[in-house]
Amino acid sequence: MAFPREVVDEVRVRTDIAVLIGQTVALKRAGRGLVGLCPFHNEKSPSFNVVPHKQIYHCFGCGESGDAIAFVMKTRGVPFVEAIKDLAQAAGITLPERDLTPEERARMSARQDLYSVCEAAAALFHKTLLTLPEGEPGRVYLQKRGISLETAAKYRLGFAPEGWDRLARHLQTQRMPAPLGVQAGLLKRREGRDGVYDVFRNRLIFPILDDRDRAIAFGGRLLPNPDPNAKDDGPKYMNSPESPIYKKNEILYGLSWARQSAQRKNRLILVEGYFDAVSLWQAGFGEAVATCGTALTERHVERIASHTRKMYALFDSDNAGLNAAQKSLPLLLAAQISAFRLDLGRAKDPDEFIQANGAPAFEALFAAGEDLIHMVARRIVEAEGRDATATERAMQRVAGFLRDLPSDVTRETATLYVAGLLNLRADDVRARSFAASSAAQPRPRVAPPAHWVPTRELTHLLWVLIRKPTEVAPVLADAEPEWLTDREEVLRAVVQIGNGVAFTSVVADLDERDPDVARTFRAIAAREGVIKEEDSVSVARDCVLKLEGRALEAKIIGLNAAIGACEKSSDKSSYRSMLHTLSALNTRRQQINAAIGRTVLPGRG
Ligand code: UTP
Ligand code: MN
Repeated sequence: MAFPREVVDEVRVRTDIAVLIGQTVALKRAGRGLVGLCPFHNEKSPSFNVVPHKQIYHCFGCGESGDAIAFVMKTRGVPFVEAIKDLAQAAGITLPERDLTPEERARMSARQDLYSVCEAAAALFHKTLLTLPEGEPGRVYLQKRGISLETAAKYRLGFAPEGWDRLARHLQTQRMPAPLGVQAGLLKRREGRDGVYDVFRNRLIFPILDDRDRAIAFGGRLLPNPDPNAKDDGPKYMNSPESPIYKKNEILYGLSWARQSAQRKNRLILVEGYFDAVSLWQAGFGEAVATCGTALTERHVERIASHTRKMYALFDSDNAGLNAAQKSLPLLLAAQISAFRLDLGRAKDPDEFIQANGAPAFEALFAAGEDLIHMVARRIVEAEGRDATATERAMQRVAGFLRDLPSDVTRETATLYVAGLLNLRADDVRARSFAASSAAQPRPRVAPPAHWVPTRELTHLLWVLIRKPTEVAPVLADAEPEWLTDREEVLRAVVQIGNGVAFTSVVADLDERDPDVARTFRAIAAREGVIKEEDSVSVARDCVLKLEGRALEAKIIGLNAAIGACEKSSDKSSYRSMLHTLSALNTRRQQINAAIGRTVLPGRG
């Protein structure tokens, strides 16, 4: 649904950007404006400025800037229309509904009812845990698990006491029809009889929230029953079923709290359990999210990519863990996310690890995170054992894996790594993996994710390129295509714009190839930015440097691991040449770091 221009303007006028941003960033007065720590990059001294009289924000550190709508879009990772809805709601503006058909309106109000019933249940569970006498067992259990009431308040944890109709009666007093509770997965119909009963009983409740912090589903942890003769009360965790407002493959538990921390620390921790996410937050690792009992999906990855491109996960060391890693890897690579596996040693999960060893020990694990590409390659190789023909078999199996890697950089570093593992020469591994036979039989590549999320740097770059194609195109000529993107249609569009093809026809062309990419191009072009025209070229240069730095970093990480694996190998010449390459890459990285930001950034003069 598109909103009329007046509505958008009204939302802008009625939103106080200082108040909006002040809700998530601690701001201090400075001259006519406000400053704070930038939510878009990691920094120690504040360079993030909010300018109330212009109703814009701007970071001198990373160049991120925009108005209230852009801020909501970027920090919450939502599209324009959602951002407008959010801000309109906060400002008490009623959005016109004349665009809605009667069916749409009916569907909207059905969703609205579901939100209401989940909200009512979340509120009851929460109040019970924090204040009511019936909440005592929940409080005792929390304490036993080392979770403070402050943490419980932050995550809106709740408690559903024993009893069959506490929630059912509560919803009735709120005039919410029982079928609604059933649809939300909170109530169940009695078999063969009238009436309904509560699904969650004697359980600690983890409400699952959406982007706008609305409860949309619940996970309930059964409290251990002290009476050994008590009858079984179902599985350890009960989870809400999917509903029109809850889609498991889109939701990451804890993301609404993790966004800020993830952007600040430039990493995300992916865990399996609700308890792990909560426990990590309490220990100072706010950047943790959990999947809700499903494998990682494309949609999850897409949401992660809009906040950070570095992910740490806890894949198990068994076969199931390897399978999960192998399934996630193509999705992560396609979204240009570097993923690492954290090794918890003997601890069963992060919660257990933190409670036993403390936060500093957990922080220490990150340095030892194993690149997921290496982990998968290593496990494929190790699975073949150590007998005389093992190397041959391992080579055959790992060749397919290497071929499927999506970029030259990942293929090359993984090749070096595998050479080290198998004690083969890198050239041999290359020949065995990428020889003619594979060209004759190209393997189907994993389809790129449906929704394209450009990096922040690429977004800026496109913005200035669209506005100043003749000035910016020469800067781009220095960039390697793979620094920018691995999407062919994106590159093609960039080249076309740089060659002076009109933006409208470039996007029309894109519409046919990939409407999603076309949409994103349009959105970028429509963004109101505060990059001054005369700064276009220097901003473009900075972005290219940052993109190169990112590609370099991936290469260096890969090479370091490859060198580690090669130390014991007999192939001394490729070992030496890798060290040589590494030193050259490090020099280049230093040059880049020194050059970034020396070009003029908007506003700095
Ligand atoms: P775990 O069994 O590892 O539980 O399940 P946990 O998270 O460590 O929980 P605690 O520490 O024993 O309380 C991991 C995740 O798998 C899902 C839940 O999402 C859980 O957080 N799960 C597990 C279920 O959905 N149902 C179950 O019966 C068990
Ligand atoms: Mn646990």
